[in-house]
Amino acid sequence: MRLTYRLTLSLISAVAAVSLAFAFFQTRADTLGLRRDLEEHAQVLAESLVRSAEPLVARHANRELQRLVDRFKDREQIAGVSVYDAEGKRLAITSGFTRRVGEDPALLPKSGGELTPSDRFVKLATGTIHMVTLPLREDDMVIGRLSLFHDATFISLQAAAMWKRAFTGVLIQTILIVAVTLLTLRWGVGRPLRRMADWLQDLRMGTAGKPPDMPDQREFEPLTREVAHLASSLTQARAAAANEARLRDIGESSWTAERLRVFVQSRLSGSRLFAVSNREPYEHTHRTDGVECSVPASGLVTAIEPVLRACDGTWIAQATGDADRDTVDEHDRVRVPPDNPQYSLRRVWLSEEEEQGFYFGFANEGLWPLCHIAHTRPLFRVEDWEYYQTVNRKFAEALLEEMKYEKNPVVLVQDYHFALLPRLIKEARPDARVAIFWHIPWPNAEAFGICPWQAELLDGLLGADLIGFHLQAHCNNFLDTVDRSLESRIEREHFAVNRNGSYTLVRPFPISVAGNFEEPPAPLELPHIERVRLLNQLGVRASFLGIGVDRVDYTKGIPERFRAIERFFEKYPAYRREFTFVQIGSPSRTHIRRYQELMDEVVKEAERINHRFQTSEWKPIVFLNRHHSHKEILEYYRTADFCLVTSLHDGMNLVAKEFVASRDDLHGVLILSRFAGASHELGDALAVNPYDTEQMADSIRQALEMGPEEGRMRMQRMRATVREHNVYRWAGKLIEELCDIRPAKIPAAPYLIPTVMSRSAS
Ligand code: G6P
Repeated sequence: MRLTYRLTLSLISAVAAVSLAFAFFQTRADTLGLRRDLEEHAQVLAESLVRSAEPLVARHANRELQRLVDRFKDREQIAGVSVYDAEGKRLAITSGFTRRVGEDPALLPKSGGELTPSDRFVKLATGTIHMVTLPLREDDMVIGRLSLFHDATFISLQAAAMWKRAFTGVLIQTILIVAVTLLTLRWGVGRPLRRMADWLQDLRMGTAGKPPDMPDQREFEPLTREVAHLASSLTQARAAAANEARLRDIGESSWTAERLRVFVQSRLSGSRLFAVSNREPYEHTHRTDGVECSVPASGLVTAIEPVLRACDGTWIAQATGDADRDTVDEHDRVRVPPDNPQYSLRRVWLSEEEEQGFYFGFANEGLWPLCHIAHTRPLFRVEDWEYYQTVNRKFAEALLEEMKYEKNPVVLVQDYHFALLPRLIKEARPDARVAIFWHIPWPNAEAFGICPWQAELLDGLLGADLIGFHLQAHCNNFLDTVDRSLESRIEREHFAVNRNGSYTLVRPFPISVAGNFEEPPAPLELPHIERVRLLNQLGVRASFLGIGVDRVDYTKGIPERFRAIERFFEKYPAYRREFTFVQIGSPSRTHIRRYQELMDEVVKEAERINHRFQTSEWKPIVFLNRHHSHKEILEYYRTADFCLVTSLHDGMNLVAKEFVASRDDLHGVLILSRFAGASHELGDALAVNPYDTEQMADSIRQALEMGPEEGRMRMQRMRATVREHNVYRWAGKLIEELCDIRPAKIPAAPYLIPTVMSRSAS
């Protein structure tokens, strides 16, 4: 049965039942009212008749008595009066009473029993009679009885009329309510739903325009939201498929989110993907107006997020937001991204001491400067090392817990925070395939050798089936380091290490970004106008814009960059008041003294240089030292004349690739440090040595004066590289290599083997 019919039937039944119930009670109340009125009226009249009849009965004046009762002979409602003596013998009765009412014993007072007043309704074949009987007295002696009869048939007649009226009312009411409800549903719900259905149909056919406006009602909100997500996923999938088809046509095969998803599904044959990193992709923080969810500044997060989205995996990371606890479930998990959940984030909680020793201490004051040749001395404290081990074990436990029911899980461990994790995982789950990707450089063997725990770190790493670096040079350095410090067999022809029978492949996988190639943002109509507007917002008037985007880290060469800008204005004064450099500097690792000093230095350098050249309306450097969202950064990328990346040493540097990915207009020049891994792929950037101030100053000029054709050619080639070597390819290649490794024999499920705890105790 159609929904409308079912709805109509239900409505009719409900409305009719309620209205009938009301009518019933109303009619009943009215009938009872009429009966009560009649009783009261009869009582009063009977009492007055008694007062007239008593002396006549006492005197045996039967004629006068007859006259008295005959006074009621032609009344419409009063049927008659009868009078009896004390023995029950009738003395008088209204003439014609018997003819009108009939002789019914029910109308006779019961002998001896009616000395007290009585009042009742008697149902006869001719109708209903109300009868009230009162005693007649003389000097307190009962000398007889008087009965007064009313014709009560009118009450049932009136009740029937009332019922008839009520039924008509119920009918009209039901029709009206049902009609109004159905019309409201049709216009208020049916029409918007139909519009939505038509739009979805157009969407399916690929001819959809703007989604229809749905009524501004809360009930529609979840539907509108879900449909919007569905539409955007469909559009993306379509664009990806079209792109795939196009590439197939021209004989290429590019990696997309969709291709990665399909690839991972087929290669993992049902196994789940787990990623572990210290930095979480979404951080929840309390703000005055509620909880805010933000994406932290991290190249690693930029790279791994699209992979997890594509595969619906689980990401295990440290909880760092003060509202993180309020947003997870009882298993410390939360589905992310918040507005369109696609994978699970499992949070791990660290104590302050653990975070201090593991993250600020060992990872960032020890390993970070150790691996980056940026002239900051590494600090190795034994207590930091202990926390590093504790936290690695803590993450291993969380990971083992997450994958305890998963067969042959695939684990992608991220970065220098977790050098010990591969061994811990592999020992507990030999069936797992474990890769660790080292996002920062690996220095030469001598440099790494200053770490007091290099053997333990190397042993932990060699627990993995696969170790990935950005560059072949880093792989070579790693193999040299192992060769010099551990008992093992290096198979250089295969780039592998064989240690105690376990085999680890060492491979380069240059990481990248997703790029917006499938779904480019709307093109800017007039980029130069946008640029001026953006600068105006910052209180600066200028025609040229350079952009730098970094965490404020000593490896990024920010002071060196500022000095190059200073030199540029010295050498090319015509650009004063014409060109401004905006540096977005996200504060990073601010508990570490070296980072605090660097922030001071960067602020002071910007001030010093500004002070030298600035005017009332213009300054050479705008330093924005706060975290910016991807969307905010994108505005600068897309309007800048050039982007300046001057890392003193960098594993890859994804800012360079993001800038290229954002320039679908083919404008904008990339100036790139040759000490950043990205320079190996982006040969069309202007390569600079960040220690060479003169060269950087000249590169800035070259970027600003580059002919449009040359700029376009360079950008086109760089975009082709980034498009081809995107992050989906990175993940695809990493997972492909990992899945080619045959897993060890599978233990019986559940797979959690509690060796991690016993190891941690030792
Ligand atoms: C580099 C590291 C990442 C790290 C990121 C941000 O890209 O390789 O592991 O997440 O810097 O640093 P942070 O210490 O804030 O996580």
